[in-house]
Amino acid sequence: MIIDWPALRSAAADVAGRAYAPYSRLRVGAAGLTADERVVTGCNVENASFGLTLCAECGLVSALHATPPPAREGTGGAPSGAPGTPQTAAPVLVAVAVVAGDGAPLLPCGRCRQLLLEAGGAALLVDTTAGPVPLGDLLPAAFAAPDLSARRDA
Ligand code: THU
Repeated sequence: MIIDWPALRSAAADVAGRAYAPYSRLRVGAAGLTADERVVTGCNVENASFGLTLCAECGLVSALHATPPPAREGTGGAPSGAPGTPQTAAPVLVAVAVVAGDGAPLLPCGRCRQLLLEAGGAALLVDTTAGPVPLGDLLPAAFAAPDLSARRDA
C-alpha cells in the first residue's frame, strides 16, 4: 500500500483547526490510514475539568471504530454493526500523522502510544520530522492484550 504522507499530514492539520483547546491553546489533529484505505481523523477536546481532556488520538481511534468499512460489491442485507449482527473484525490502522496547530508533527503522548498500539500494532507507522517510524520504536516492551491472557488468574 502506498502511504501519501503529505495528504495524511494535511488531513491532520485540517482537523487540528477544529480542535477545542481553550485551556492549553495547543491544537492537535490526528489522521490515520486504515488497512482498508480509509482516512480517519480526530482532534483534541479539552474540558474545564482538565483531567477529562481527550487527546486527538482518542478521537481518531473512536472514529476508526465508529466509521463503517467500505461497502463490498455484492454484500446485501443488514449493515455491519446493526443490532443482532455478529461483531466484525476490528479495523486496523497502518499509518498515522499527528500535528499541532502549526502543521508540524507532534509525537503522541505515552497514553496515546498505548492506545494506538491496540489499533495498529507495533508495525503502525508514525509520522515524525525525521520520517515515519514504527510505533514499536516509540513504545518498546509494551504491555498488550497477550499479557492479559498469559498472566491473569485462571
Ligand atoms: N494532546 C494530544 O491531543 N495528543 C497528544 O499526543 C499530546 C497532547 C493534547 C491534549 C491537550 O489538549 C493538549 O494537547 C496539551 O497537552
